[in-house]
Amino acid sequence: MYFDKEFDNLINEYLMHPKVQEMSKYKHHGITRLEHSIRVAYYTFKVCKKLRLNYKEATIAALLHDFFLDEVEKENGIDRLIHHPKYAAENAEFYFKINEFQKDIILRHMFPVTFIPPKYLEGWIVDTVDNIASIYERCYSSANSLARTTNVITMAIISFIKFKN
Ligand SMILES: [Fe+2]
Ligand SMILES: [Fe+2]
Repeated sequence: MYFDKEFDNLINEYLMHPKVQEMSKYKHHGITRLEHSIRVAYYTFKVCKKLRLNYKEATIAALLHDFFLDEVEKENGIDRLIHHPKYAAENAEFYFKINEFQKDIILRHMFPVTFIPPKYLEGWIVDTVDNIASIYERCYSSANSLARTTNVITMAIISFIKFKN
């Protein structure tokens, strides 16, 4: 999806994990949660590397920032928004050896919805990249739905006109 050898090598081991693959079963802003996570990881990689920050660990944290599965199934929208970073951090700790730096990035990526801000600059970058990616994905998905609806209506009108003639 993204053509950067270093990025691919960095995330590959995590991406291949069956629990991470499971994220592709869940819809997230009109795409899969895995696609969203890879996008956030990629732009975190680009920005943090450019700024000479701890881009390797930040990229993994970004990949795992929404690493929750069915834990939120019974929760309403607001509770999901508030609680999912905690589930993601617990899963990341359970399945991988993440450090305190990465845990903070995952736990704080929903600031200001969750009240405690990220401790590290890399955390602010993941938070910002996640927000921009989410807005982009929502707009893209709405535009796609609109285009599909317009196509269906256009086809119906053309069929109707053909039928009348
Ligand atoms: Fe999130
Ligand atoms: Fe996210």
